[in-house]
Amino acid sequence: MKRLTLLSLLLAGVLSTASAAEHAKSAAKGDPAKGQAIGSTMCAACHAPDGNSIGAPNPKLAGQHAEYLFKQMKNFKAADGNPPERNNPIMNGMIAAFDEAQMRDLAAYFAAQKQIGDQAKNRDTLEAGQKIFRAGNAAKGLPACAGCHGPTGMGIPAQFPRIGGQFADYIEAQLKGFRDGTRANDPNGMMRTIALKMTDAEIKAVADYTAGLR
Ligand code: HEC
Ligand code: HEC
Repeated sequence: MKRLTLLSLLLAGVLSTASAAEHAKSAAKGDPAKGQAIGSTMCAACHAPDGNSIGAPNPKLAGQHAEYLFKQMKNFKAADGNPPERNNPIMNGMIAAFDEAQMRDLAAYFAAQKQIGDQAKNRDTLEAGQKIFRAGNAAKGLPACAGCHGPTGMGIPAQFPRIGGQFADYIEAQLKGFRDGTRANDPNGMMRTIALKMTDAEIKAVADYTAGLR
């Protein structure tokens, strides 16, 4: 009898832990309806109501992985007396008012929208861009973008963002930011190490190719 009571106590403990975990999971996922209320109004001037921004410098948010969107919003916000990990005067200001729960809601909303992809525009550099994307350049130790961002640039959640269909000008600006260190919020300097190995021409070529990826 005593053992039975102990067992049921244990079981009750397990069950309540499970429901707490379930609760934490839904909180971690965010509520797209709440996100829409903020996102389709306060973010729309630059990212459009559904996250399909009209053009660079404003990146498309539609169809981006929620975890990545959430991380970027957190990185744009100063916390614990530290400056923001990702610097952009517009976004640093825009995101300051929101707490983490709202950021998760916003991330859930934009992630659930369908991306309208951009196009590659420069035929002359397409082949070079594709080569870098798919194979990198072994001679200079440049890894293939596909290795982390997937063969069609769809990304691999949670760590590796979707870059396929994004504006070429935005991709180019981010690669240059990683290269000169003005963007330094990439875990373990993964993108900084890569961008340092790239010339302006290589960056332009791979950015244009990536914009047309589906
Ligand atoms: C006035 C224009 C403007 C408004 C309004 C704005 N953004 Fe942005 N957003 C930008 C720009 C510009 C960038 C690119 C910053 C950079 O180059 O580092 C950006 C980048 C982002 C990124 C990073 C995307 C990526 O691919 O890394 C996220 C996430 C984001 N914005 C979310 C939001 C949300 C959520 C709102 C509304 C609460 C919002 N933005 C409102 C201009 C804006
Ligand atoms: C070793 C893995 C890895 C490889 C290889 C890699 N990336 Fe990345 N990339 C990342 C990670 C991780 C991030 C997200 C950084 C962050 O959390 O802010 C990222 C972010 C980016 C971004 C910013 C996306 C945005 O929305 O702001 C661009 C653009 C990008 N990568 C392009 C490339 C290109 C082009 C190549 C090939 C030349 C490449 N990456 C190769 C890991 C990689």
